[in-house]
Amino acid sequence: MPSNSSLPLADVLAPLWAVASAPLVVSVPAALALLALLTWAYLYPRRRAALSASMANLPGPDRTSPVFGNWRDFLDKASDDGTDSSLPLEWTEKWPTGRLHGFFGTHIFYSTDPAALSCILQNDTVFQKPSRLLNLLGILVGGQGLIVLEGDAHRRPRKAMNPTFGPPAIRELVPLFYDKAFELRDKFASFFDPANDGVALARRAEGDDKVVVGGRRKVDVQKFLAEFALDIIGTAGFNHDTAALNDSPSEFTDAWRAMQDALGQKEKRELAQLFAMMPVLEKLPVEAQVKMTAYNDAAVKVGRRLVENKKAALEAAAASGDAKGELGRDLVSLLLKSNLSSKPSEQMSTDEIVDQIRTFLFAGAETTAVAMSGRGQPELRHANGLTYLEYFVREILRIHSPVSNTIRKTVADVVVPLSKPVTGRDGTLVESVVLRKGTTVFIPIASVNVDKKIWGPDASVFNPDRHATEPTVKTPGIYANLLTFIGGPRNCIGYRFSIAEIKVVLFVLLRSFSFETLPQRPEQRRMPSYSYGQGLPLVPEMPLLVRVLE
Ligand code: HEM
Ligand SMILES: *[C@@H]1O[C@H](CO)[C@@H](O)[C@H](O)[C@H]1NC(C)=O
Ligand SMILES: *[C@@H]1O[C@H](CO)[C@@H](O)[C@H](O)[C@H]1NC(C)=O
Repeated sequence: MPSNSSLPLADVLAPLWAVASAPLVVSVPAALALLALLTWAYLYPRRRAALSASMANLPGPDRTSPVFGNWRDFLDKASDDGTDSSLPLEWTEKWPTGRLHGFFGTHIFYSTDPAALSCILQNDTVFQKPSRLLNLLGILVGGQGLIVLEGDAHRRPRKAMNPTFGPPAIRELVPLFYDKAFELRDKFASFFDPANDGVALARRAEGDDKVVVGGRRKVDVQKFLAEFALDIIGTAGFNHDTAALNDSPSEFTDAWRAMQDALGQKEKRELAQLFAMMPVLEKLPVEAQVKMTAYNDAAVKVGRRLVENKKAALEAAAASGDAKGELGRDLVSLLLKSNLSSKPSEQMSTDEIVDQIRTFLFAGAETTAVAMSGRGQPELRHANGLTYLEYFVREILRIHSPVSNTIRKTVADVVVPLSKPVTGRDGTLVESVVLRKGTTVFIPIASVNVDKKIWGPDASVFNPDRHATEPTVKTPGIYANLLTFIGGPRNCIGYRFSIAEIKVVLFVLLRSFSFETLPQRPEQRRMPSYSYGQGLPLVPEMPLLVRVLE
């Protein structure tokens, strides 16, 4: 794929390469031509929408492609160059607030300025998810998943679900996190058992990877953490043993793995992008699409069965006089129990709850797995006490944000204030920016997390101790001044869940094993698990040398 072609035609064709190389049933050239035409027409009004004077005046990088604007300047960079920032650091340092070039001559507003971020994240009436993002997410979570709802349709279920993720509910789940963490520890320990050649246990291990050398063994840690995270969502989320870690046969887990494998390949991620932009493509029987459909069918089937069973148990309990019954402490049981006592306007249907199950799976499994693999460093061995563990986890989530960016679109004209004015293209200071209705807003989560203005000159250095002192510059982040779980009314509802989970797994694993990077593979890839523009969940690998601690 030409990376910097000046030929518009080549640019138009580039992202479609993935489609062209997939086993299509329809005519490829016809689909390409239609898609290019539709995209062009679809974006026409946005291209024409007048920029406000302040937006036009915002600085930013030059356009490098007439079709992709700046997208290709940073999308793959974020994962390929080893940094996790969502935009190149040079850009955000030079222009803390700026304007990027989007697809087909459109413009994108971005900012790392806390006042601007606060305005954007607090006001979910004006700053909504664009339909492209909603389509992309909706493929996997269904139309009623919390993450794809906007406005009043979002407020009701969010309010109903908030207590389900509150501190008391999460405390109840911690014993389940421990059970699974011990299972994971025992699995790692079994790799070192001489009676066990480890072949069946380490499915993806190849060649000398199977061998324990000098007490150390190569393990794709990411893979096991991903299975761990899936099992946690299964058991703690909806009391279903996905059994990924212990390799029991599970129709659901098989479908999940197939879907992740399909989506994890780069060209498949580009496909997912295309599906999101042009929903009509969803009908195309390409491999990734077939896998996603199979996964969705399995998730809906499992979800329905779970909700129906629990409902029946609740009804039986009610009939026997025990109003709430003993259902389990998982998230879905809590939702069903609270549904019994909620106002009619806050009640949820079976299908709505099934879509929440799909949302937890999508939003909670891979993200947390990526976060847990953020740092397998020895520092924690010297850690005494839970305060250091807290700081350590904050620092992991700061340096390696699993969701590296997100986007919004203005549904009305709005003025975005800046705490620090930027010098405009005409040399005057821009103190606030008027965004016209329909403007795309890029939220560079990972860049804000390593911003020197917020975290000081050593912002990109891993240093848990920095969290011992209150940062002077406050972001709207819901957790630890980080943007990792964003903030405002659309913050990550599962943040306490995932922090508790990460702490438990680190606590258990780092007391039994040490993890070292491979000397011969310094360029190992870490990726954000979800990044708008990079598509849906990635399947990174993270081979590390594991050693049993005495
Ligand atoms: C380290 C792990 C996680 C990270 C980094 C993370 C990050 C995020 C981010 C950035 C958003 C906002 C997306 C946007 O609005 O553009 C979000 C939303 C959400 N997350 Fe998480 N998440 C994590 C774990 C979880 C878990 C474990 C669950 C559930 C069990 C979960 C459930 C959700 C839901 C339901 C939303 C949508 C909330 C709403 O729109 O009201 N997340 N998450
Ligand atoms: C929630 O409660 C309402 C009213 O009792 C009921 O109609 C609905 O089926 C319940 N939802 C679920 C998923 O049980
Ligand atoms: C969101 O912005 C709009 C337009 O500026 C404004 O009318 C509204 O009051 C704001 N809402 C909140 C919650 O800040």
